[in-house]
Amino acid sequence: MARGKRRWWAAGIAVAGLSGAGWGVARLVAFGPPPALAGLPAVHWPARNQFTRERVELGRLLFFDGRLSSNGKVSCATCHDPARGFADGRKVAEGILKRRGERNTPTIINAAYNREQFWDGRAASLEEQALASISNPQEMTTETTPEQAYAACVSRLTAVPEYRRRFAKAFSSSEITILDVAAAIASFERTVLSGNSPYDRYLAGDRSAMTPSQIRGLETFRFVGCDGCHRGIHFTDGAYIMSGIGMRRKPRDPGRFVVSKFPQDFGAFRTTTLRDVALTAPYMHDGSIATLQEVVEHYDKGVKGTDTELDDRLMAPKQLSKQQRADLVAFMKALSGTGWQTAQRPVLP
Ligand code: HEC
Ligand code: HEC
Repeated sequence: MARGKRRWWAAGIAVAGLSGAGWGVARLVAFGPPPALAGLPAVHWPARNQFTRERVELGRLLFFDGRLSSNGKVSCATCHDPARGFADGRKVAEGILKRRGERNTPTIINAAYNREQFWDGRAASLEEQALASISNPQEMTTETTPEQAYAACVSRLTAVPEYRRRFAKAFSSSEITILDVAAAIASFERTVLSGNSPYDRYLAGDRSAMTPSQIRGLETFRFVGCDGCHRGIHFTDGAYIMSGIGMRRKPRDPGRFVVSKFPQDFGAFRTTTLRDVALTAPYMHDGSIATLQEVVEHYDKGVKGTDTELDDRLMAPKQLSKQQRADLVAFMKALSGTGWQTAQRPVLP
């Protein structure tokens, strides 16, 4: 649907115009958020950070701007690169001064639909997540406390007249605040969406949208119970699962345990969405599996281990044929959609 950025601003006008609202109302809502893409529900815009065009445009600049980091070199897009499906293609992330993180970079495409952010769900919103990146010494800052990281970030942005002008317009306040930085970035992220995939078109009745192999793959996906966890329209139930990935690593990544403090969540990570998954190799929270073929082989073999918290749906070997494995991979490739491709690197102020 949203093929060009102008198109969805225009669509906002069209919808407002058709809704029967009086002209005054129609003009107020003339620039609505992008319409839902085929196959996906509308994005929720929180009451405190409603859609405005100014915020989205400002957030787009900030997302690509190295000024968010202490040395001016690391932007959100360093790791969430549009050319790599808004991920980075690395096993684990590499941040400021080449500092290595422990986890694989997830895409931000459709992150607007995540119930919580991060592999362990420790951020409740996209706004909170953005603050966490700006103050993360493995990602963007060399300061020692979050407060210092925020203050330094705000002063780097305040030094740019174009940002002062844009923030004043987007937030009607005279000073740039770190909360407004996060709100603008989150607004931009809420427009980086993907839908209308071959799978969505197939579900909508276009039987030729998926290849025969992809259709068989969908059947296998259901038959072997992948959809027990990768469920529903987003291909995730949002649950945190101890799936055996990273089980032998020392020290273990505690995963969801850090947030919930439940012993059974030790080593559990969120079931990932599978939308656009073909774009974001390598896979899993530790980037330990290089390709979709190998992910399927991993599940096919069954996860071995004595860990009592291991999800038992994953333990039995599935005994898939070569064809079935290939079909599953083909099916996951049918989950690559469109929309996000319009979110391009801007010219920075
Ligand atoms: C050094 C690389 C790096 C930089 C820079 C970076 N990120 Fe990330 N991002 C990651 C990694 C790695 C994770 C997963 C971390 C975890 O789960 O603990 C992540 C997670 C996320 C998520 C959660 C996605 C999900 O599915 O849970 C969002 C949203 C996000 N980043 C947005 C941003 C924004 C906005 C910025 C800039 C303010 C940013 N990132 C900067 C590497 C990076
Ligand atoms: C019991 C729940 C469960 C079942 C069943 C399940 N998965 Fe997963 N899947 C997960 C979890 C949890 C992760 C993330 C694990 C991690 O990184 O620690 C994951 C990760 C993945 C990934 C990597 C995505 C990424 O972006 O890194 C792919 C691909 C995948 N699963 C495909 C499948 C397929 C295909 C099947 C069926 C053969 C399947 N899954 C069955 C829970 C499940």
